[in-house]
Amino acid sequence: MSAPPELPELVIRALRMSLHRGYVQASRTETGRLLATLAATRSGTIAEAGTGCGVGAAWLRSGAPKDTRVITAELDPELAHCVMDMFSDDDIDVIHADWAELGQHGPFSLVFLDAGSAAKFPREQIVDLVDTGGMIVLDDFTPCASWPPLSAGRVDVLRQDWLADERFTSVDVMVAEDTSVIIAVRR
Ligand SMILES: C[S@@+](CC[C@H](N)C(=O)[O-])C[C@H]1O[C@@H](n2cnc3c(N)ncnc32)[C@H](O)[C@@H]1O
Repeated sequence: MSAPPELPELVIRALRMSLHRGYVQASRTETGRLLATLAATRSGTIAEAGTGCGVGAAWLRSGAPKDTRVITAELDPELAHCVMDMFSDDDIDVIHADWAELGQHGPFSLVFLDAGSAAKFPREQIVDLVDTGGMIVLDDFTPCASWPPLSAGRVDVLRQDWLADERFTSVDVMVAEDTSVIIAVRR
């Protein structure tokens, strides 16, 4: 078996920034490879809510066709401006804004956000970011084989609601032993 492919240069840069800043919330590599693969199927505009140090955006840009736009919103001003500088030549639009402002740039072919943020954001506002065929990708779930899904002994209502929403065809993908990602495509 051959070694997994090298990390894209953009991703390495973003991971270095995470390391340098002690930022521990960055997307993991298993999720990143899935993001790049999904982004490769997209056209139009791809959005990320919560840039962090740019790891997710770097994966999305690395996988997406050249003529797609990648836009990412970060609330923390210092973080947003550091990532803006880092990606200034890389065709990634970083905005210092609440994710809700992303709506002005939609609809999106793919929206990526973490479960923690999705739990705080009004769900219908997230749904409104995509039209038919648009994909919402939520990461940072704890894998669970039961239904309803459980997390720390309680029903994982966020995951349950996304998977049960009949406006979407959805799947919960276990990308590593300890983490899963929901992919929901609007019908
Ligand atoms: C889990 S991290 C994101 C990691 C990033 N997506 C990645 O792939 O590495 C969540 C980020 O969302 C940012 N954030 C929190 N609330 C936000 C909001 N309302 N709008 C935009 N960003 C927000 C936080 O500052 C934090 O950097």
